[in-house]
Amino acid sequence: MKTKQLKDLKGFIGTIVIPVCETSDTFVSFENVSVSSKIFNGKKDTLYLSEQNGSIYVFVGIGKDTDYKDLKTIFRRIAKNQKTFLDEKVALFIPSETDEMEVEAMVSGLFLGTYNIGHFKGNDLHPFLKTNFEIHILSNRDFSSIVNRAFKIARAQLETLALVDLPPNIVNPKYLSLWAQDKGVNFGFEVKILGREACEIECLGAFLAVGKGSENDPQFVIMNYEPRVSSPDLKHIGLVGKGITFDTGGLNIKTTGMLHMKCDMAGAAAVLGTMQLIADLQLPIKVTAIVPCAENSVDAKSFFPSDVITSYSGKTIEIIDTDAEGRLVLADGLSYLIKNYNPEYIIDVATLTGSAVGTFGYECAALFTNNEDISNKIQAAGNFVGERLWPLPLWDAYKSDIESEIADVKNFSGKPVAGAISAAKFLEFFTNEHPAWAHLDIAGVAFGDSEFAKTKHATAYGVHLLTKFIENL
Ligand code: BES
Ligand code: MG
Ligand code: ZN
Repeated sequence: MKTKQLKDLKGFIGTIVIPVCETSDTFVSFENVSVSSKIFNGKKDTLYLSEQNGSIYVFVGIGKDTDYKDLKTIFRRIAKNQKTFLDEKVALFIPSETDEMEVEAMVSGLFLGTYNIGHFKGNDLHPFLKTNFEIHILSNRDFSSIVNRAFKIARAQLETLALVDLPPNIVNPKYLSLWAQDKGVNFGFEVKILGREACEIECLGAFLAVGKGSENDPQFVIMNYEPRVSSPDLKHIGLVGKGITFDTGGLNIKTTGMLHMKCDMAGAAAVLGTMQLIADLQLPIKVTAIVPCAENSVDAKSFFPSDVITSYSGKTIEIIDTDAEGRLVLADGLSYLIKNYNPEYIIDVATLTGSAVGTFGYECAALFTNNEDISNKIQAAGNFVGERLWPLPLWDAYKSDIESEIADVKNFSGKPVAGAISAAKFLEFFTNEHPAWAHLDIAGVAFGDSEFAKTKHATAYGVHLLTKFIENL
C-alpha cells in the first residue's frame, strides 16, 4: 500500500472519494462535477456516483456532526459495498474543515471495509489489497502520519476480526500462541509461551483444570512490550485476555448458545490486537500482556463439577460449574501477572458471562473497577472510539455469592442472578487488592449481528479502546 499527498487532481485517473456534509445549498459541486441537492445533499449514508474523464467520483454523504464511529462505519460501508467502483488508485478528498481524527476515522473505515468473512471461499481480492493499490490524500495539508496511523489501526482490527471469526478447529490455543510469536517478531515485542508441562511446573492449577479435557494443549502466552527508544519513567500496564478457543461448557455442557462459542477467545484477540497496534505505533509505555489459551472440552479427562483445585495463587477453588471456566483461566492470568510483573495498571478483557449480555445487550461492555481514574479514562476512550462501557458495582455485599464452605472460593453462586457481578467478584479475589484493576465483560459486544455480514461475526471490540486508553493514560 502506498500513500501519496495530492495538491490537485491534475493527471489523476481513478476513483475520487468526496465526503460531503449535509447542506442546504442548491448544488453540491466538486471540480467539474455538480449535482442538484434534490438528488444528493450530503445526508448521512447517501451516495452519488458520477463518471467523468475516466475517473469515478464517489460523493459520500456524511450528514451533520457525525461522530468518529459513525464516520468510520460510513467509510467501511463504502469500501465493502462499492467495490466495483473502487479502483486500485483512490484519491480521498479532505474538505478544509476536516480534523485529524475525522481523517483517521475515514481512512481506517476504508481499510476495515476490505474485511471478507468468507475466509474459506474463493474470493476476488479487494482492490485496496492489491499490490498496486495507492491512496492519494487530496489536501493542501499534510495528513501522511495520520493516514499511516489509521492504516495501522485498521490492520490490527482486521487481524482481530479474523482471529475471532475463524473456526475453532483452526484457531486453537497453539494457533493463538503462534500468532503472538509471529507478531512479536514482526512488530517488536517479546513473547514467552508456557505449554502444558511448563504450566504444571509453574502450578497454574486453575488454568490447567480448564484445559484438561482437550486434545489440544493449553498455551499460556506472556508478552512484553517496550518502545524501541525506551525511557526509565514509562508507565507499566498489564493486560489479561480470556482465550477460550471454544467453550462447550465442559461436563456442564451448554444446552444453548454453543454454536457461537468460538467467540470465547475475543478477550484474548482484543489483547493480541492491542499488542500489535501499540508496538506498530511504538507507544511510549510498557505493557505486559497475558493470554491464557485453552479449550473447554468434554472428555473423560475433563475436570468435574465439585472438584477442588489449587490455583496459581495457592488459593483453592471449588468448581460448582465447569461452564464458569473463563474466571478460572483469568484468575491464574491475573495472579501470574501480579506476582511476576506487578504492573501499575491492570485491565482484563473477557467474554465472561451471559449475564453481561442480559444486562446491556449488544450496546456496551460491563465495566468493573474500584478505581475512579481508570473508570473515567476508559469510558472516555470508549465514548470517543464508539466502543462503549458502563459500570456495574463491585460491592462486598456480592462476596457471599462466591463463598465456599470447603475451599477458599467457589466459581459460581448457583443462583440465576447478578452473574456478571459475582464473576467480577471472583476475579477481584485474585487481584491481591491491586489499586488500579479493571475488568471488562465483553460477552455482548465482541460478536454479533451487523450490516457487515449475514452470520454473527466479530467486532474487534477492545483493540481501539485499549489502545486509546493506553495513549491517554
Ligand atoms: N463463555 C461464556 C459466556 C458467554 C455468553 C460469552 C454469551 C459470550 C456470549 C462463559 O464461559 C459462560 O459459560 N458463562 C456462564 C457462567 C455460568 C455457568 C456461571 C453464563 O454466563 O451462563
Ligand atoms: Mg463457559
Ligand atoms: Zn466461556
